[in-house]
Amino acid sequence: MKRILLIVGGGIAAYKACELIRLIRGAGMAARCVLTDGGAQFVTPMTLAALSEQPVHTSLWDLKDEAEMGHIQLSRQADLVVVAPATADLVARMAGGLANDLATTLLLATDKPVLAVPAMNVRMWQHAATRRNVAQLRADGVTVMEPDEGPMACGEHGPGRLPEPAAILAAIQTALGGEGQAAGRLSGRHLLITAGPTHEPIDPVRYIANRSSGKQGFAIAAAAARAGARVTLIAGPVQLATPPGVDRVDVETAVEMAAAVDAALPADVAIMVAAVADWRVAAAGQKIKKQGGDPPRLTLNENPDILATVAGGERRPALVVGFAAETERVIDHAVAKRLRKGADWIIANDVSGDVMGGGHNLVHLVRDTGVETWERMTKEAVAERLVERIADAI
Ligand code: C5P
Repeated sequence: MKRILLIVGGGIAAYKACELIRLIRGAGMAARCVLTDGGAQFVTPMTLAALSEQPVHTSLWDLKDEAEMGHIQLSRQADLVVVAPATADLVARMAGGLANDLATTLLLATDKPVLAVPAMNVRMWQHAATRRNVAQLRADGVTVMEPDEGPMACGEHGPGRLPEPAAILAAIQTALGGEGQAAGRLSGRHLLITAGPTHEPIDPVRYIANRSSGKQGFAIAAAAARAGARVTLIAGPVQLATPPGVDRVDVETAVEMAAAVDAALPADVAIMVAAVADWRVAAAGQKIKKQGGDPPRLTLNENPDILATVAGGERRPALVVGFAAETERVIDHAVAKRLRKGADWIIANDVSGDVMGGGHNLVHLVRDTGVETWERMTKEAVAERLVERIADAI
């Protein structure tokens, strides 16, 4: 059984550590907790002890603790040390190599991998000192998760929220070398993934676009690569880093995306996540000028349906997965879309809320055998689960 030493720092996100302990144990691992003085202002040792069913350690100067289990031993007995929430102060002390309480002493003494999960106010996260400290920790070999973006307990908005416990669990599994449930299960397979929006030029300086961020498609590409697949990611215009081990082809328009997809075939699995523009504009060769009178009329032509083309083509991958972003009657539309497009599976999601550009997704997996509704989770967790389902199916 894998053992996690969980260091809980002093931030409001400490309450999420309680849920994390439940997830860690639910995944068949043991959790032992260390609470900083600050952490103890937000959750009690009793809470963590009850959830972990293990003693909770709070002080370097506890004679009973030291007699039973020296702090060095505590730091080495675990398979992985997780710091969640890692506050700005804790990150700074870790980066500086301080050992002025039990948590930092353990972190300095450990010979095990360390996963730090920061949570702090957006300005603290963006402060030059924190940027420096995070860079130092990464240079020292600590895995530092990126915080989530969104509303924060302090009333501000931005990056700094503790990632959801499910995403932390996925990072724990990756750090333990298990790389999630699907580790190595897709090795030898080629996955072709489209992601992001397309831009359809109106003239040399203007275009029609949509609100797709590309986050879900990139997360699927990352999860598939972690599972050992060869991944070709055809990306529309997005500002996202290429996940490790992924071959990326950047395109702008739907026509370019269709050509790039065709060039990347054959593949074992195609996952068409991109929000492809349905129409392209008969674009003007020069910038359209205001000339008084009527506004210009745009002539629209239908774009190729990449998903339907791949699903109906001669080099059809064994498994073709489409996405359906809907704002009403989500499942009905997805069931119809699966048949109309010839896809094997459709992942349907309701995009009437904050899904586009956000970090979370609530999806339904529509297959010929029925519909599975997944709980709301991060886009990374959706990706992880989809990759598991794919590995089960092929
Ligand atoms: O028809 P609709 O755009 O709702 O279908 C969504 C699915 O079809 C997505 O999987 C998307 O990537 C794919 N699609 C495509 N080419 C298009 C339009 C949509 O591949 N031209």
